Amino acid sequence: MNLQSDRSEILAGEYMHGDDFPKVPVRADSLTTLTSTDFPHFKNWFDSYVGTFASDDPAIQTNIDLKYQHTQRVCRAAVNIGKDLGLDERNLCLAEIAALFHDVGRFEQFKRYRTFSDKRSINHAAFGVEILRDKSVLSHLDKSEQNLIIGSILLHNRAILADDGDDRSLLHSRLLRDADKLDIWWVVTDYYRQKAAGVNNEGLELDLADTPGISPEVYKNIINGKTILFDSLKNLNDFKLLQVGWVYDINFLPTLRRLKERGYLKMLQSFLPDSEEVRDIFTAVFHHIDSRLKEG
Ligand SMILES: [Fe+2]
Repeated sequence: MNLQSDRSEILAGEYMHGDDFPKVPVRADSLTTLTSTDFPHFKNWFDSYVGTFASDDPAIQTNIDLKYQHTQRVCRAAVNIGKDLGLDERNLCLAEIAALFHDVGRFEQFKRYRTFSDKRSINHAAFGVEILRDKSVLSHLDKSEQNLIIGSILLHNRAILADDGDDRSLLHSRLLRDADKLDIWWVVTDYYRQKAAGVNNEGLELDLADTPGISPEVYKNIINGKTILFDSLKNLNDFKLLQVGWVYDINFLPTLRRLKERGYLKMLQSFLPDSEEVRDIFTAVFHHIDSRLKEG
């Protein structure tokens, strides 16, 4: 993986916000071994950084809060799934830091473009890495640990994760992707519940039209267990199915167990049309989960 090449995906332009936000001073006691006590240092930076985006406009503040709270839950999910996988303290700490910063680009993205659609703005993962580099946030860490965190962040929003890379990098990339998806399922089911009660947040709909039915291409892909790409989405139902289809991209059984226990997919089904096609999709999806859990 070429970490540098992802930087070219970022649109050129000066930071409109956070320019005055200080760089993290490089600590003399260069860390070579992370422990759980290092996390608060990064959390403090993150909290202060997010604080610079505070807005009197409720439409903006809602989305800042949403990403901040999402980040906190992804941190918890990464640690909890990581514990179930038997990770040691150092790897748990790395996973928690990668989770803390995985969406750091979202705040500036929303401030600048008023959207969370990467397609309509910038790749938020690459943008986040640019911010971390610009502010020297990770610079006191061992280079290999910096690369692990940066690599996981850069890969967390890829439609498909390639199998290349060393085992440890792959483990962290997979863990972050699982933890992120697990919480996005929480975010979107909570939002669709609110939407049913009349609350709208276009930021969470990627500006897709809430029209009836589902697209044939989306149906064909999900019923065959294939990844649905953002480019193929025609309406909000398609987007919900893209979120359902993430189940085929889940890496670890502890994540699948949590997904099943929490009932997110059943909730998503209740927000989709009660058609034969949709019922077929969910039959296949639930079968997939049960057979993976049974195989162990
Ligand atoms: Fe995320």
